[in-house]
Amino acid sequence: MNRRAFLTGAVGGLALASVGRALPAWAQAGGPPPPGYVRLRVVQGELTVEGKTRKVYRIEQDDGALGWSGTRGDRFKVAVDNAVAEPFSIHWHGIILPNGQDGVPYVTQPPLKPGERRLYDFPLVQAGTYWMHSHFGLQEQSMLTAPLIIREPPAAPEMKEIVVMLNDFTTRDPSAILADLRRGSRAGMKMAMKPDLTDVRYDALLANRRPLSDPDLARVTPGETVRLRIINMTSGSNVFLSTGRLAAEAIAVDGEDIVPLPGPRFELGVAQRIDLRARIPGGDGAYPIIAQAEGTDMLAGVVLVTAGAAVPTLSTRAPKPAGALTNRQESRLRSVRPLAGRPVDHRLSVTLGGDMAAYVWSLNGQVWPQITPLEVKQGERVEFTFVNQTMMTHPMHLHGHVFQVTEVAGARLRGAKRDTVLVSPRQAVKVEFDALYPGYWMIHCHLLYHQAAGMMTVLHYEGFTNGSYDPLASAAEFPRR
Ligand code: C2O
Ligand code: CU
Repeated sequence: MNRRAFLTGAVGGLALASVGRALPAWAQAGGPPPPGYVRLRVVQGELTVEGKTRKVYRIEQDDGALGWSGTRGDRFKVAVDNAVAEPFSIHWHGIILPNGQDGVPYVTQPPLKPGERRLYDFPLVQAGTYWMHSHFGLQEQSMLTAPLIIREPPAAPEMKEIVVMLNDFTTRDPSAILADLRRGSRAGMKMAMKPDLTDVRYDALLANRRPLSDPDLARVTPGETVRLRIINMTSGSNVFLSTGRLAAEAIAVDGEDIVPLPGPRFELGVAQRIDLRARIPGGDGAYPIIAQAEGTDMLAGVVLVTAGAAVPTLSTRAPKPAGALTNRQESRLRSVRPLAGRPVDHRLSVTLGGDMAAYVWSLNGQVWPQITPLEVKQGERVEFTFVNQTMMTHPMHLHGHVFQVTEVAGARLRGAKRDTVLVSPRQAVKVEFDALYPGYWMIHCHLLYHQAAGMMTVLHYEGFTNGSYDPLASAAEFPRR
């Protein structure tokens, strides 16, 4: 284990680990969590999808529920136990939190080793649909993913909530997928001047870990209003969503409320979330909510069904493949609580580069971990311009902040607040945020294999140091995959 991988005092003022010494009781997985903490165990099990089986992870509470939910204003007090054979590091996606608890291995924290426990404790200042996932290696592909739902107080939801987790499923080993991509197994794509829709072929798209041939059923009552919290936890599948016959409107994206946008068709990029509100019609009925992965015929979904209705038989394949996400939806979104108007203090550009043939993906011409951090000062209004020079759509994510989309393809807007924005081929997208949270914060493409192939950099607040830990020195030791 690398000495530098140990931060000092990053979590709740406690040293994270004591090298070569026995771990204190609170740091050992297995026992009851300290008072006031919820335990989240990472375990491994098998998942069989249409006759194909693979090992997948679960991040679960003691009752088996995946992930965590709570109320804004509460503290996120969680003891994470590593009950698997590999190290991992969990990132709380979209959450505003102290940098030392952000869960990026070797940048904000060392990974959590088998048998170890780590305590997290910070106040929740947001409410909405978030999620958690491993930021270590390629574990996200094996579903080291779960929801993180924060409600407005009072804690009782004002309408029925249905959480929909999308995952892509493959029986192939993620490291073999990456090796193949690097080997240029798609050399035929080399000179493609048309958009590349997908680079990895999956076996299936899943909703709540089930295929559409055996979907998760949500019991609904005629006349009631429901809120769907849909989370794209896939490693590489941007999706189209359709609510079919059920009239629905989007009311939030990435946890942030928007001016309601009517459906029935929506776009949802990798790592993004969308909350849909729908009123179940009177009388019995079954209403499939379907996702189709772009560039493929793969479908997944859940079915909302009243007590007296029959569940339809659904195929996991669409009659024809979906095209590319248009990203036109982004220009139509309006935040209900836009950023306060003020001039931009600091403009930074983030140029998205790379190609399918070499399978090296870059930001500002740099490939992680050989990067120069983007520097900001605390208190600045910062503008990022994402410029996509590639032929693929990239879902770009900034850790620890919420930004507002201010320009898409040349058109100014007071767009949605988000943590992940799609940037289409040859497109420029501008976002603004206030630099309020000192730290080292990752900026990366959320397509897992792009991130693994270098499409990642870091935002650094001038003067910020993480104790004696030097993330930049350790970045060079980031495990090459
Ligand atoms: Cu969803 Cu770097 O994270
Ligand atoms: Cu990408």
